[in-house]
Amino acid sequence: MCGIVGYIGSKQAYPILINGLKRLEYRGYDSAGVALLDDGIKLYKTKGKVADLEEYVKNKDITGTTGIAHTRWATHGEPNNVNAHPHLSESGDIAVIHNGIIENYDILKEKLKKLGIKFVSQTDTEVLVQLIEYVQKMEKVDLVTAVQLALSQVIGAYAIVIISKADPDLLIAARKGSPLVVGIGEDEFFLASDASPIVEYTREVVYLDDEEIAIMRRGEKLQIKTIRNQEKTPFVEKLEMDLNHLEKEGFDHFMLKEIFEQPKSIRDSIRGRLNLNKDRISMAGIIDFEKEFLNAGRITFIAAGTSWHAAKVGEYLIEELVRIPVEVEYASEFRYRNPIIDKTDIVIAVSQSGETADTLAAMQLAKSKGALVYSICNVVGSSIARAADAGSYTHAGPEIGVASTKAFTAQVTVLTLMALGLAQKKGTITKERFDHLVNELDMIPAKVEETLKISEQVKEISKIFTYSRNFLYLGRGYNFPVALEGALKLKEISYIHAEGYPAAEMKHGPIALIDKKMPVVVIAPDSVIYDKVVSNIQEIKARKGKVIAIVTKGDTVVAGLSDYVFEVPHTDELLSPLISVIPLQLLAYYVAVMRDCEIDQPRNLAKSVTVE
Ligand code: G6P
Repeated sequence: MCGIVGYIGSKQAYPILINGLKRLEYRGYDSAGVALLDDGIKLYKTKGKVADLEEYVKNKDITGTTGIAHTRWATHGEPNNVNAHPHLSESGDIAVIHNGIIENYDILKEKLKKLGIKFVSQTDTEVLVQLIEYVQKMEKVDLVTAVQLALSQVIGAYAIVIISKADPDLLIAARKGSPLVVGIGEDEFFLASDASPIVEYTREVVYLDDEEIAIMRRGEKLQIKTIRNQEKTPFVEKLEMDLNHLEKEGFDHFMLKEIFEQPKSIRDSIRGRLNLNKDRISMAGIIDFEKEFLNAGRITFIAAGTSWHAAKVGEYLIEELVRIPVEVEYASEFRYRNPIIDKTDIVIAVSQSGETADTLAAMQLAKSKGALVYSICNVVGSSIARAADAGSYTHAGPEIGVASTKAFTAQVTVLTLMALGLAQKKGTITKERFDHLVNELDMIPAKVEETLKISEQVKEISKIFTYSRNFLYLGRGYNFPVALEGALKLKEISYIHAEGYPAAEMKHGPIALIDKKMPVVVIAPDSVIYDKVVSNIQEIKARKGKVIAIVTKGDTVVAGLSDYVFEVPHTDELLSPLISVIPLQLLAYYVAVMRDCEIDQPRNLAKSVTVE
C-alpha cells in the first residue's frame, strides 16, 4: 500500500516521478504528491489520484533533478491535502515519503510535542520526519546518521525516501517490512516500491533488505549501510520485465487485458516445468527440498484474498493426488493464534505481490517454529519470495488491475504442477492418470482461449443484472473455491454484495435469501457430483431464483433448468477451476462497467497490502 518513487541524476525528475506514480497507482490512490529539490524544496500534493496531482501542478515550477513522489492508501489520518505525502520537517528543510506504519508513532509524537515541535498532519510519517530533524539538530550529525538514529527508535514497517535542502546531491532511502528497489542508471539513481517505474530507464537493480539504508549521492556509487552502520556490498540484479505488460495495449482496462492474457500467462507458468515428452515435471524450488516434501507430515498454505482461494484449490489437488494432509489458513489468523507447527511441516505462502504484510509475518512465524517455508509469488524479488527457504514463481507478468485475475490462474497452474510432480515422485498417481492430467493441463491455455470467446455473451447478460443488489455463487468440490473467487471479484469492483458458498450448504442459510430477484451463479461443469449440483439448482428454481449456470459444452440438463447459461470447454474436473473462473471474471468486469465503476482502482482497495 502506498507507492513511492525517487530520482536523483541529471534529468528533470518530475516526468520520471509522475510516470512512476502512474505505474504504482495500484498500490493506493487516496492522494498523491511530489517534492522537487534544487535551491529549495518545492512541494505539491493533493487529495485524489495522480491525474489530480498533474492538474494541480499545471503552471507551477516543476524543475529539479532530485525528487520524491508518493501515491497514498490512507492508514493514519483521512485522505486529504494535509495528510498527503511528502511530509516536511518543522523547518521545511527535510522532506519524506513513507510506505508502511510506524506503530509507536503516538509515543514519539507526544515526546516531540513536549519538546515544542508543532505538527500539521495526523500522519505517522510526519512524526518520522520531525524525529529525523530533531535528532540531526540535537546530535549534530549528518543526515544519514540522523536517519539511522531515528529509525532505531521506530517500531513498525517502513519504506522511506528522504531529501534535504541542505544537501541537494543526496537521496536517502531505507526499508523495513515494506518493499524498495533501487535502479542504477548512468550517474543517476531511481527508487520505487516495485521495479515497474524503473524498468524503462535501467535494468540494473538492487532490492534493499530490511533495516538497510541506500545512500545515493550524485556522481558517486551506490552505498548501502544498515541502521546499525554496517557497510554492505550492493547485490545488483538484472531486471527481466516485459514493458508491454505495463500498458493497456488497446484494452479499456488493465483488468480486461489481464483476463485476456490468461492463455499466455498459464502457458508461461507451465513452460520449463513440464518436459517436452510430457512425462516429467520438474520445479527447481522443489527439487532442492524433495525429501522434505515427500516426507512432510502436513502442508499448510498461508495466504490472503484471491491467493487464499487459489491455495484452497491447491488443498484439494494435493490431498487428492499426493495424499498429504493440507490446511489452508488466512495468514492474518494464523499469525496470531499460536498454530501447532514443527519441523515436519511445510508452510507454503501464496501471494501475487509477495508483499502482503500478514502473509510475510505468518511465514516468519512458521520459520521460527522450524517449518520449511516455501513461496509461490508472482513478483520477482518480492519480500515473501526472498524470505522463503525456496519457492516457485508464477509467470503471470505484472498484474496491474487491483482485482486479481491472471495471477489466480497462474497460481492454480503452479499448484497443479506441484501436486502432479509430487504425486509422481511419491507414487500416489498411476501413469495413466498422470499422463491424462498432464495432457489436459497442456491443453488448458487453448481451452481458456476458447472460453474467452463468450465475452460478448457475458457482456449481454451482465446488462440484465447491472442493478442487482445481491448475488450468490455456488460451487462444489474443486469449484467451491471458484465460487468464492467469483463472489470476491464482483464485490471488489462492482460493490454488489455477493457471497460464495459450497452449493450444498445453501440449505443451511442462504436459501432463505432466494427470491425472484436473487441471481444465483452456479458453477456446474462435468464432475463426480454433477447430479448433486443439479438437485441444488432445482432447489433454487423451486424458490424462483434466477440461475446463471457455468456448464460444460453440450450439457442439456443444467442448461434446461437454468435461466442463463455460459458454456465452457470440457476438461478434467481437477483442472476445471482454470476454465470455470473465466466467465466469472468477465461477469464481474462487465457488471462493474455497466455500473460505471472504477475498474482498475476500486474504492478503498489496494493491490499490495503492506499493512495489517
Ligand atoms: C489485496 C488485493 C487482492 C489480493 C490480496 C492478497 O486484497 O486487492 O487482489 O488477492 O490482497 O494479495 P497477494 O499479493 O498476497 O496475493
